[in-house]
Amino acid sequence: MDKILVHGGATLKGTVRISGSKNSALPILAATLLTNDPCIVHRVPDLSDIHYMLTILSHLGCDVERASGTVQVKAAQLRTEAPYEIVRKMRASVCVLGPLLGREKEATVSLPGGCVIGDRPIDLHLKGFEALGAAVRVQGGNVKVLAPRLKGALIDMRGKYGSTVLGTDNVMMAAVLAEGMTVIDGAAEEPEVVDLANFLIKMGAKIEGAGTSRIIIEGVKELHGAEHTVIPDRIEAGTFLVAGAIAGEEIILQKVNPQHLLSVTVPLQKAGYVVETNGETLKLRRNGGSLPLELETEPYPGFPTDMQAQMCALLATSPGTSRVTEHIFPQRFMHIAELKRMGADIELENATAVIRGVGQLSGAPVMASDLRASAALVLAGLRAEGITEINRVYHIDRGYESIDEKLNLLGANIERVKA
Ligand code: EPU
Repeated sequence: MDKILVHGGATLKGTVRISGSKNSALPILAATLLTNDPCIVHRVPDLSDIHYMLTILSHLGCDVERASGTVQVKAAQLRTEAPYEIVRKMRASVCVLGPLLGREKEATVSLPGGCVIGDRPIDLHLKGFEALGAAVRVQGGNVKVLAPRLKGALIDMRGKYGSTVLGTDNVMMAAVLAEGMTVIDGAAEEPEVVDLANFLIKMGAKIEGAGTSRIIIEGVKELHGAEHTVIPDRIEAGTFLVAGAIAGEEIILQKVNPQHLLSVTVPLQKAGYVVETNGETLKLRRNGGSLPLELETEPYPGFPTDMQAQMCALLATSPGTSRVTEHIFPQRFMHIAELKRMGADIELENATAVIRGVGQLSGAPVMASDLRASAALVLAGLRAEGITEINRVYHIDRGYESIDEKLNLLGANIERVKA
């Protein structure tokens, strides 16, 4: 298994180009199942999660072609079953359920298990399908959804932890081909949901209100092919902003949507960094010391759970006491124990990390547990004395396109050791 060795102490400076969004590209690729016309998607990042999704689409019968960042999918003849062997590697495979149900009126997909960020149920997705008239059966580790016809309905997608991003996507993808009108209340408002809705609209779907908590869908008989460019990855961008804050002099991010990043840039400004925006460019500069922060993860436009671990790494080195509370995935704190091995002073009080900044960390062998936790360890390694050896780096390759190479171009000293 590959390892990453971060030689701490380098100062980052320069420009980095941000990739297309993983969490937009995944459901958009699944949405290509809704038509038998070819669809073309640009700015698809080169990540293992994307590779898994393309494998699933091929298994389902699609012709898939990929040339650098552009993917063409033609979903002519479809199979409706996605077995455990191919879906188990990625939880987001669940988002083929909605489009298969919409087009073929049935789908069987192996149920995603929990993962290190906690129990990850799909009850809200299933409740949405049932409201559209589908029968849902869970058997032998699979979920089967079946509906002779789908009928528009009023659906409330709010759960115990707020709205669900992939649940909203899934129900939207089924409802675009249902008869009549569907209203999704408590819809997730994330930019990735809006990007999917924009792609579906290009395919001929009638959708209003994406980006608000009420999405209204007027079902159509069929969809057609479309061409689309995925939005910038706001979490990759946020991760590089934190890299700049933790170890940078001045870094510039290109090809971003600064509006999508306010929940990250505003706290960084509060912590004392200078952030400047110019069109699709963001610049972050150090301005003396860094201040502690109080942060709580929330659905968009709040501070994202997908930035919580990276921000904990920064605050571990900022003087003073910070508090970071996780409301979306209350168990998403696997990085804390690893940061502590690097000398961080962090106590967990239920779902709140109380972080007393220590100024300097020290390199240590650490274990990547999930995607964002791994990114946090790379960031911490930049600010650590000596070498941080990060094992199980396949986690990071799931969601960051060449993070080591991109950081090295900014002046970091990171080696990837092939197993
Ligand atoms: N939830 C339920 N029932 C459901 C679905 C979700 O209770 O049926 C709960 C979850 O357990 C969680 C909360 O609702 O407590 C929100 O989960 P959500 O469904 O929004 O998460 P998701 O759609 O499965 C996406 C991203 C995650 C990101 C979350 C929250 C993709 C592929 N994944 O997951 O991204 O953390 O939204 O913003 O879009 C990552 O990229 O590292 C990542 C984990």
